[in-house]
Amino acid sequence: MKVLVVGSGGREHAIIKKLSESEMVDKIYCAPGNGGTLELAENVDIDSLDIDRLKEFSIDNNIDLTIVGPEDPLAKGIVDEFKKEKLVIFGPDFKCAQLEASKNYCKKFLIDNDIPTARYKTYFNYEEAVAGLKDFLFPLVIKADGLCLGKGVTICNDKEEAVETLKSIFIDKIFGSQGEKVIIEEYLDGIEASLMCFVSHNKIYPMESAKDYKKIYDNDFGPNTGGVGAYSPSPLFTDEFKKKIYDNIIKKIEKGFEEYDFDYTGILFIGLMICNSIPYVLEFNVRFGDPETEVVLPRLKSDLFKIMIDAIDGKLEAKSLVWNERPSVAVVLTSGGYPKEYEKGYEITGLEKIDKDVYVFHNGTKRVNGKLLTNGGRVLTVGCVDDMNKAIEKVYEEIKKINFNKMQYRKDIGRTFFL
Ligand code: AMP
Ligand code: GLY
Repeated sequence: MKVLVVGSGGREHAIIKKLSESEMVDKIYCAPGNGGTLELAENVDIDSLDIDRLKEFSIDNNIDLTIVGPEDPLAKGIVDEFKKEKLVIFGPDFKCAQLEASKNYCKKFLIDNDIPTARYKTYFNYEEAVAGLKDFLFPLVIKADGLCLGKGVTICNDKEEAVETLKSIFIDKIFGSQGEKVIIEEYLDGIEASLMCFVSHNKIYPMESAKDYKKIYDNDFGPNTGGVGAYSPSPLFTDEFKKKIYDNIIKKIEKGFEEYDFDYTGILFIGLMICNSIPYVLEFNVRFGDPETEVVLPRLKSDLFKIMIDAIDGKLEAKSLVWNERPSVAVVLTSGGYPKEYEKGYEITGLEKIDKDVYVFHNGTKRVNGKLLTNGGRVLTVGCVDDMNKAIEKVYEEIKKINFNKMQYRKDIGRTFFL
């Protein structure tokens, strides 16, 4: 079978690694890919948003399955476009993808289906939003409605900060049309966890849980990032807690999918905040998380290609998902300056010396004239599946062998459990 993976990050590299272990998969393409994906797949120089060219490529190359990594092509309707041509694609369609593309739509879905979430209100202009601040205590959370490259959420500690944030969205229009609506939401103080699920025609099959470290500096200081470290599973996910998640959240999402007349197939990422053992849904993503995928998929023993095909065909069974009992941990190596300004194009050395027990996924790299160069804020994800302490030790030991100019990383991944 021939597979096309759309995207260019560590998430896509981890998906490709797992697909490459399938006996059913003969050839993998990645569009556009990175310096790591080309070791297991053939990189194709097509942007992940260029749906027409991706479609053309799939037809010309008789692709059996296309898997979409990032949210933007899903929110743009890539699945609908592929289906029109009878191409097989794994991901939710345009309508389902609005759960991630519009925070307002997501909140409405949560409230309509009685799924626990933070209290919120939606505003359509600056004056109303500023007046609405009085209905919330500080800290509060301001969210621009659209995708906003993952930067649309601001936690505001006081009125001045909140007014400034609203001004930047409504008046300065820093997110353009993605900020035409704004949500103000109560701040939930708890422990975050990520639960990614396979979904087959509205039926949800949760994967193992994960915890993502969002802040750039140790002990959760500094600005938010896309995620700079992760481990799996979250220790909160006992059997009793999993049942609570199923009853209070998963079952209600499945019912909601039916009521909203969805036919959801693909990945659903449930972003949770757990407050005093009660899980609340912060957000949905309609795709695999990054770096969650880099810790969850290495623990998957089953055939990822078969899971996806079975999900599309409505044949997936919970017992088909078999997991390594051992946990995993991964640390993201980033370019100095990230998540603000950073430089690219520095040579990466030392990867050939990495122990075979430790895996390295490429987030932002490219190969030029035989040299591997940095090509993004997040550069590499170094991980290991083992007993937790051993895994942490191994990952940090191996990282010492890797070098690039201005490399930075957190030293406390897996070692701290944030409350
Ligand atoms: P989102 O894109 O909605 O996941 O928001 C990004 C991050 O902001 C989340 O992962 C949380 O760390 C934080 N966040 C979002 N909503 C809330 C909330 N209501 N209370 C506390 N933190 C939040
Ligand atoms: N790590 C969070 C995300 O992928 O959105």
